[in-house]
Amino acid sequence: MEFIPGGVNSSLRAVEPRLVPVRAEGAYFYDMDGTRYLDYHGAFGPPILGHSHPAVTKRVKAAIEETDQVGVGIGPLEIELARKIVQHIPSGDKALLCNSGSEATYHAIRLSRAVTGRSKVIKFQGCYHGFHDALAMNVITPKEKLGQRDPLSAGSHSAVLADTFVCEFNNLDEVTQVFEKNPEQIAAVILEPIPHNIGCVMPRQEFLEGLRALTQKHGTILIFDEVITGFRHSLGGYQKICGVTPDLTTLGKAIANGYPIAALAGRRDLMDRFNTRTGGDVFWAGTFNGHPVGAAAALATIEVLEKPESHQYLFQLGDRMRAGLREITSRRGLTAEVAGFGSVFLTYFMEGPIRSFTDLYRNDAAFFIEYRRRLVSRGIFKLPMNLKRNHLSLSHTQADVDRTLEACDAVIGELKK
Ligand SMILES: Cc1ncc(COP(=O)(O)O)c(C=O)c1O
Repeated sequence: MEFIPGGVNSSLRAVEPRLVPVRAEGAYFYDMDGTRYLDYHGAFGPPILGHSHPAVTKRVKAAIEETDQVGVGIGPLEIELARKIVQHIPSGDKALLCNSGSEATYHAIRLSRAVTGRSKVIKFQGCYHGFHDALAMNVITPKEKLGQRDPLSAGSHSAVLADTFVCEFNNLDEVTQVFEKNPEQIAAVILEPIPHNIGCVMPRQEFLEGLRALTQKHGTILIFDEVITGFRHSLGGYQKICGVTPDLTTLGKAIANGYPIAALAGRRDLMDRFNTRTGGDVFWAGTFNGHPVGAAAALATIEVLEKPESHQYLFQLGDRMRAGLREITSRRGLTAEVAGFGSVFLTYFMEGPIRSFTDLYRNDAAFFIEYRRRLVSRGIFKLPMNLKRNHLSLSHTQADVDRTLEACDAVIGELKK
């Protein structure tokens, strides 16, 4: 705290108990005091194979034996990774690499503004897309601010904020109205196809299809932010599962199992506007873009995920966890909604159904946090923060799930008393 404001390097890491992780391996991480935690937080999403996965570590070591960043031309790892992204992501004719999800969504918005010649964008209440002014607003909004712009940061530029409209997720009528009131002004619609930044709110298929049709009709760019869902739910992202193909896709997190790399992929004519190509007029640059460490980690991660049994296992483990949690909450007579998709899961303490962020005001936040704090004290790490999701990895075992369910049962028993 003396040298680092608040003692953390990313704001949501400031939770009690304050931990100093010193080692992470497989499904576990270890605190400085020697405590071992079964990790369901998964660093907000990257380690889909499990921490420090041997195949990833080996590829990274091999890469750094060869080179660090040179920063001219292109390396073989970057070419191979772009080829893999384009092969797997339905909307990706071409891809460019950067370092974080925030960079990818920033570029996606600017590209959309350039190709449409318009300035306004639509995002959805409950979705998070990174730290920049155009999108850093209205994630977990307090009740009194719902329906207003709720910037995440002081110092956000008012003109930039004013150009972003915030709509309710799964509410196509509201989006249609914004289009009607702002003809030929909307450059982009951006969404997490599953809003995982508020846990797991499933999209209605008609909503996703409706957004595709509306954006096509109005000449607006549709951006799927698959920074969480990409590679985690399928190699082709959620777009492959739902069959709705956006114009641009942002990727990060699970693509490289814990190493910093991200990407923007999209339609050829759009991606060709970047000035990486002669004549391109949309700026794309970054000293560390396409760094061999991230690219090597991503290639090793994708290779493991390309085995069909990888996603089968993640989905089976997720189903087992959700079934166990449903059995516990119903046997204990607790009002709860066990939510999730594939390897993502969480228990909301509320009545369903859940269609959008607004429904989540019914979640008992105090109970949610206390339940997780007690699990943490039993060595099971689920981030003790309201609405945050849990992640399974390929390193979690059936036995880990069973042990977790036993602990959840015991904690709920304690809390019910
Ligand atoms: C859906 C989504 N998009 C973008 C981002 C921003 O990514 P980064 O933190 O790598 O900048 C996040 C981060 O949590 C995210 O969840």
